[in-house]
Amino acid sequence: LNNGVAITPQMGWNSWNTFACDIDQDVILQSAQKLVDLGLRDLGYNYVGIDDCWQADARDPDTNKLSYNMDKFPDGIKSVADQIHAQEMKVGIYSSAGTQTCGQNPASLGYETEDATSYADWGIDLLKYDNCFNQGQAGNQKLSYDRYNAMSQALNATGRPIVYAMCNWGEDSPWKFAPTIANSWRTTGDITDKFTGEDARCPCKGDEGLDCPLAGYHCSVTNILEKSASLGQKAHTGAWNDLDSLEVGVGNLTVTQSKSHFTMWAFMKSPLMIGANLDTIDDESLEILRNKAVIDVNQDKFGSTARRVWKRQVGDGDLQLWLAALSGDVYAIAVLNTSSQQQSTAVRFDEVFRGIDYEDSDRQGTYNLIDMWQKDGDAWGLGVGNATGTLEDVQVEPFGVMAYRLTKSA
Ligand code: GLA
Repeated sequence: LNNGVAITPQMGWNSWNTFACDIDQDVILQSAQKLVDLGLRDLGYNYVGIDDCWQADARDPDTNKLSYNMDKFPDGIKSVADQIHAQEMKVGIYSSAGTQTCGQNPASLGYETEDATSYADWGIDLLKYDNCFNQGQAGNQKLSYDRYNAMSQALNATGRPIVYAMCNWGEDSPWKFAPTIANSWRTTGDITDKFTGEDARCPCKGDEGLDCPLAGYHCSVTNILEKSASLGQKAHTGAWNDLDSLEVGVGNLTVTQSKSHFTMWAFMKSPLMIGANLDTIDDESLEILRNKAVIDVNQDKFGSTARRVWKRQVGDGDLQLWLAALSGDVYAIAVLNTSSQQQSTAVRFDEVFRGIDYEDSDRQGTYNLIDMWQKDGDAWGLGVGNATGTLEDVQVEPFGVMAYRLTKSA
């Protein structure tokens, strides 16, 4: 959506993955403070997202406006937003294109103008717009378009630049209609802190109508990546595939898995919304989120999403080569190993650049390489020298990733 915001994918923190409905203004403001104290804001994580369960039980009976829960937000949303703005950050809020949110709070279907006006009055900078209680209007692309476009128009009419983050879980192929009306769209159901697999009882799709006995379990990291892998060309500046908030530091992902997750979300140009509890997050997870070399891939101004060059089955998973074109004739490649065994491969530049400039044999020449997950003192990204034609013997640990920045040697 060409509304001047989300020129690069939005970055920040969102309350849902850790706190779910257990939020209040202290949780939000403390998390905002942590973004500053931990240096995350200055790395670009500047949206503080209030997810579901901020609302009062019912609309204001006199004005029909949405109200906030007075016990949880005694000072009101505007006051919270003012405090976050004073820290030079931005504020996200949440509603649903339905009669209720997924947490069964009042939602915005039929009240788009009233609610967009409230958000703008409060100083909101991002709206995550969900899909629960949509009155049977999912399953039809035209109806989904109308439902989400109504809020897009209402937000636009406020005159306030508000990032519009659609969340209809990939239903009705939002990538086919969302780029002109939204800044991002979720590609699947909800992420969980598992790296591989899909539970048949809880398939990786929307929340509604699922008879899922495992609370919260829907999509694993590689599950979401696979479902989103071919969607790169649908995205562009101001319009991004959203692979859901990050599980780094939330729970059960290992350090290796977290690096792979973060790297691939960055390559896919997904919004990078931290889902962890910033009060208790461990140092290793923080280091991952602070990897400037990987953030730079995500935030590159060229705005081109990575594409998968090849995928080969290995052991109980696969090995995948990804290429992202960055500005200034720089490229980033990632070799992802979703199997539980160590893998090694050679990466040939003629394969890497096939499809981009295959005709240009010059592309196959000599590159200077930076390994994005090697540390040099405090800085990520250690030069690992040059490679001509082929990157020999790339070793990738179980569930791991190797990611390089490639610059053409003169
Ligand atoms: C849906 C969304 C989640 C979260 C919850 C809130 O499940 O997909 O990201 O916002 O609703 O209830």
